[in-house]
Amino acid sequence: MIIGVLRDPHPGERRVAATPATVMQLIKLGYDVLVEPGAGTGSAFSDEAYADAGATLGDPFTADIVFAINPPPAEQLDKLPAGCVLVGMLNPRLDPGLVADLGRRPITAMSMDAVPRISRAQSLDVLSSMANIAGYRAVVEAAHAFGRFFTGQVTAAGKVPPAKVLVAGAGVAGLAAIGAAGSLGAIVRATDPRPEVADQVRSLGGEYLSVEAADVEVSSTGYAKQMSEDYNERAAQLYAEQATDVDIIITTALIPGRPAPVLITKRMVASMKPGSVIVDMAAANGGNVEGTVAGAVVDTPNGVTIIGYTDLAGRLPAQASQLYGTNLVNLMKLMTPDRDGRLVLDFDDVVQRSMTVVRDGELTWPPPPVSVSAAPVAAAPAPAPPPAPAVKQSKLPVIGLGAAALFLLAALAPAALRGHLTVFALAIVIGYYVIGHVHHALHTPLMSVTNAISGIIVVGALLQLGHGSVVTALSFVAILLASINVFGGFAVTRRMLAMFSRS
Ligand SMILES: NC(=O)c1ccc[n+]([C@@H]2O[C@H](COP(=O)([O-])OP(=O)(O)OC[C@H]3O[C@@H](n4cnc5c(N)ncnc54)[C@H](O)[C@@H]3O)[C@@H](O)[C@H]2O)c1
Repeated sequence: MIIGVLRDPHPGERRVAATPATVMQLIKLGYDVLVEPGAGTGSAFSDEAYADAGATLGDPFTADIVFAINPPPAEQLDKLPAGCVLVGMLNPRLDPGLVADLGRRPITAMSMDAVPRISRAQSLDVLSSMANIAGYRAVVEAAHAFGRFFTGQVTAAGKVPPAKVLVAGAGVAGLAAIGAAGSLGAIVRATDPRPEVADQVRSLGGEYLSVEAADVEVSSTGYAKQMSEDYNERAAQLYAEQATDVDIIITTALIPGRPAPVLITKRMVASMKPGSVIVDMAAANGGNVEGTVAGAVVDTPNGVTIIGYTDLAGRLPAQASQLYGTNLVNLMKLMTPDRDGRLVLDFDDVVQRSMTVVRDGELTWPPPPVSVSAAPVAAAPAPAPPPAPAVKQSKLPVIGLGAAALFLLAALAPAALRGHLTVFALAIVIGYYVIGHVHHALHTPLMSVTNAISGIIVVGALLQLGHGSVVTALSFVAILLASINVFGGFAVTRRMLAMFSRS
């Protein structure tokens, strides 16, 4: 079968649905690839590069399968041959008019943005791959409009404080924004009604701001539900406080199938410092910020810039095309079971079923709901999270008991042992504070390197060698085990640290 790659005619769209690299992968699956001349120009992929990769340049409307980015306009849809398979980001959830139009055509239409969010479909999840790029780009846009450093600096000419960034909604785009803003040196805070993202925020160096409300619970789907009035009021209080403090706000809040919730009101915008920047990533869905204009930049009277670009992923077109193209290759792998260049649409497969809008001229939208479980930790019944002070209180009796036991031991112990006990107690306190201040992600390398403390056992065992055959045998075993601990510890540390190194 032949796959045709369209040149997207929408003004400003620079992405393309296949790159020279993905063309090669499609050919390996047994397909011929026909690329419309100039299709990759916006992403800096020349026609020659496609030809070198094995594609033919020509009219994609003669192909059996047509790859698009956005829904093709009517004049392109009219050119699609009967029986062809159209694959693109067709946005069927929000565009019933297009769905009805496609349903009247003798084609099959599959929407990449309708891939269910289940682990098996992650490699096709175009919403995630685009949101990841968009989150990064949102920070770049914010930094460009901000006109100041993100990182703090101490220079001969004075001290520069780091920028403070608030990210509202820590899904795919939000986490990408947290990572990008943090790597530029900003202080990053984030909030999200799904408490399970707190660790992800922290692991990216951000501070998680929780909103304490009764309906905050771990999501079993990976998506937030519509929140209660109580939650919204408390969140509004948090946003109002943060608005006066932070320099940048990036909003990404989304509940699928609903208009974006308004999080930042006009009053909050008015309370922000002049020069502050807001990037409203939800602009296309109505916006999380009052005053956002989709696709445009608004400067408020108090000097705040609100960026409502809806094409953030497309502003990094080469990488967006590469990731989108790879999502399509993964779809083709799924639908080409024999790797023979023949597409097989399997309606028993929940992924293929969910993304099919029209099958051979028959409207199949909306698909049946898919039960997803994006958060395995949530599978266990989630008890209400205990309030923070209660956790501290539960530790108090243990600490008290430990201290009493140590005191008793010190009182009863012979004088020679008391010194050792004091050192032991101090070591516990110091160890607790030292390890408590090491980032969670580094606990394993820290523990493995402290295995070197076993070196003291080696010293002790060496001193015992020659004191009778049993003691010598025990010493030998001790030296062996402690050495495994020491050398193994260093080997594990080395491996763990290598995981944190960029190279
Ligand atoms: N502007 C662009 O070019 C562009 C590109 C890609 C994605 N997007 C948009 O970015 C947004 C995020 O996309 P995503 O893929 O990360 O979605 P996602 O579902 O992964 O993340 C959305 C997050 O918003 C959170 N959320 C829901 N209600 C909230 C509330 N009231 N307060 C705070 N957080 C709330 C959810 O819990 C979730 O973590 C979407 O609106 C999407 O359309 C924009």
